[in-house]
Amino acid sequence: MKLQYLAEQPQAIIADSLVLFIPEYSRITDKVLKEIDSATDGAVSTLLDSEEFTGEEKQVSVIMHPSGYQVKRIILAGLGDKKKVDVDSYRRAAGRLSQFVGLTKSSTAAFYFGKIGDPTFLQGAIEGYLLGSYKQLEFKTGKSAEDKNKLEAITFVTDNKRSLRTLEKYVERGQIIAEGQLLVRELANTPGNHLTPRMLASRAQRLARKHGVRCVILDEKAIQREKMGALLSVARGSVEPPRFIVLEYHGGRQGQKPVVLVGKGVTFDAGGISLKSALNMHQMKGDMAGAAAVLAAIITAARLKLPLNIVSLIPTTENLPSGSASKPGDIVTSRKGLTIEIINTDAEGRLILADALDYANKFEPQAVVDIATLTGASLYILGYAGAPVLGNNPKLMARLKEASATCAERVWELPIWDDHRNQMKSSIADLVNSGGKPAGTITAAAFLENFIGDWPWAHVDIAYVDYEPEGRPYIPKGITGIGLRLLVELLIGWKKL
Ligand code: BES
Ligand code: MN
Ligand code: ZN
Repeated sequence: MKLQYLAEQPQAIIADSLVLFIPEYSRITDKVLKEIDSATDGAVSTLLDSEEFTGEEKQVSVIMHPSGYQVKRIILAGLGDKKKVDVDSYRRAAGRLSQFVGLTKSSTAAFYFGKIGDPTFLQGAIEGYLLGSYKQLEFKTGKSAEDKNKLEAITFVTDNKRSLRTLEKYVERGQIIAEGQLLVRELANTPGNHLTPRMLASRAQRLARKHGVRCVILDEKAIQREKMGALLSVARGSVEPPRFIVLEYHGGRQGQKPVVLVGKGVTFDAGGISLKSALNMHQMKGDMAGAAAVLAAIITAARLKLPLNIVSLIPTTENLPSGSASKPGDIVTSRKGLTIEIINTDAEGRLILADALDYANKFEPQAVVDIATLTGASLYILGYAGAPVLGNNPKLMARLKEASATCAERVWELPIWDDHRNQMKSSIADLVNSGGKPAGTITAAAFLENFIGDWPWAHVDIAYVDYEPEGRPYIPKGITGIGLRLLVELLIGWKKL
């Protein structure tokens, strides 16, 4: 998608479609709409009087061949109640437009913003449009591999030259963030045979090189040298060797402690010897959505040139059953030295995260956030509507909640109590890897807590919310790419805790 920036009056804009985002109104007060109305013999008042278009959310109306204008059509997109319009109203409206034939059969469009009020609305509009248009076509062939969306260029328009820089800044930010989220979707959608741990590592390496991020890959030998016994116990079941990916972005001053992100990178989770049922097992190709989020987040931070040091850590492996796989009852020793009794080989995510969290100590982090498709139990807490977060620091938690409100990726805090910690104690080793069904999302976090250092830590469980079952305005049915906007928003506003 080509993006352009322009200061111009609506009548002089040259494009196939001119798009106006309109809050709900009962009479025309807006100068631009008044002008269109008089140029078109009252086309706008007709829409309004018939209540065909009032600016209500979800409404889209078209005025064809408006006289006095250079464009073929004017598209009015409803934003809903004026008092409730926020950045997500623009994401949703633009997301719906990405499915609207009047726009997708155009090859050029102009999004007109007039005077720039809240510039994040511009960011929302481009995010919504780009996220809404996502389709996974790379594995289609022939005609069905063609994108039916023909829109090639969008020009963002303000009515005055002074606003051009702001306009450009926020649209570019939105584009970079949306592309980050699209990268998460693409990676999480990639089947296990097209994205093994080694392939994920080389993909990370290529992306890092392109965007000036340092990337070191620990291979199996290096992982053994690090004594990551928990990660290795999961990898044993597969002929595909594990990798441990370390990404470092230096946007802050020398010596500034980094924010460390940790993402679960299980490229396919069959459950191991505690085999999952066949129903929906194919969806476990997405069990590296956390890894994709922290990889895309550090790349996005680099593209946005955030003034901050960031490290992303990705333990990546397959979890398969085989003659060499770990067995229920096995006891393994983690990097930290704590011993773990493996009750259920399907609770593999916490094992690989345990070693990664311990490894994070190397960087003396100012804070650590891990993100993982960790527990099926999280579906029964918030459904598909939001992600549970847990942690040890109220300030970090407050930051996450703030970021969540701005980016419209919902999180909700759960507690970790001693009852949950006790659930994870083994009678013969230090810990068990499964505390059974009760409070499964919390006990997983209580397990991870044993491996953190003396730093603020938060854990985001994105199991299920990494998938959208119905389709929303800018989240097509399928893999959502969740976590990217949350992490980036957290990093954009980052100050010392
Ligand atoms: N990757 C799964 C969690 C998951 C399930 C994500 C469904 C998305 C959709 C994880 O590795 C897992 O299998 N967790 C087990 C833990 C249990 C054995 C303690 C679970 O949630 O059932
Ligand atoms: Mn599992
Ligand atoms: Zn898993």
